[in-house]
Amino acid sequence: MTVKTMQTADVKELLEKVAGFDKDGGNERMKKIVHRVMHDVFQIVEDFDVTPEEFWSAVYYVGELGANGEAALLAPGLGMDRYLDIRQDAEDEQAGLTGGTPRTIEGPLYVAGAPISEGFARMDDGSDKDAEVILIKGQITDENGEPLANAIVDIWHADSKGAYSYFDQSQSEYNLRRRIKTDSEGRYAAQSIMPSGYGCPPEGSAQQLLNQLGRHGQRPAHIHYFVSKPGYKHLTTQVNIAGDEYTYDDFAFATREELVMEAKRVEQSETAAKHGVTGPITEVEFNVTLVATDKPELQTRHARRRALETDAA
Ligand SMILES: [Fe+2]
Repeated sequence: MTVKTMQTADVKELLEKVAGFDKDGGNERMKKIVHRVMHDVFQIVEDFDVTPEEFWSAVYYVGELGANGEAALLAPGLGMDRYLDIRQDAEDEQAGLTGGTPRTIEGPLYVAGAPISEGFARMDDGSDKDAEVILIKGQITDENGEPLANAIVDIWHADSKGAYSYFDQSQSEYNLRRRIKTDSEGRYAAQSIMPSGYGCPPEGSAQQLLNQLGRHGQRPAHIHYFVSKPGYKHLTTQVNIAGDEYTYDDFAFATREELVMEAKRVEQSETAAKHGVTGPITEVEFNVTLVATDKPELQTRHARRRALETDAA
């Protein structure tokens, strides 16, 4: 039996009181958003005839999600990060700021303040002897193909088990996290180890919901980037390694065609040799085009909570 109560005066009044419409204090924007959110939750309960048992399961689920620290993991799984990117792309289009290397999601595992070096960095601490050694390299240019010197390329990626330093306390400080300043030709290079893809914890809250949707919680091997230089739009993006089982089936929806790069085995790498790395190596090349802007607010990453980031700018 389905009852309809949403249009009654009782429910309308209840929602207005819930959102504090009858009180002077508080934040007007928050009141309107909470009113809308709770209206829609009530409406879902009515439309789907949600039982009390189902409702309380959902409440306790949200509690567990927070307690497990998985809210920021479920968000990309439910397409939120991708959706915010779609909105930012549309805003760029409206402002005439399209072009350049596409953005994609940041994810929740950035740590601010990684060591900075000029032109080249070694990213791994050498402790994983079995890992495949890789050379990440590329050139940062503007839209006319002019090299951009002194751009900051901030790279972070997982280890060969799919875990990130800082969040995985067994790794050394800032392992697989570096900031590299581009040289006079706009080039950067890094010696590192091949990252593995990873998945949501199998017993965790995010995977519990994904199971209900018949979805996996896996990401392909990828390398995160922030690229910035004063006078240019800040870029948050990722390289997705070609050939991974999940390259085109990423639970976080971060893959974009232009960001899929092949890891190529080379006998001798000129770039690697220049930085004292000899012998066969796997190269991942990622060239980036930045878009010029005079708007200062677009030149830095947007504010959000990030590990060890004290200044939100
Ligand atoms: Fe990641």
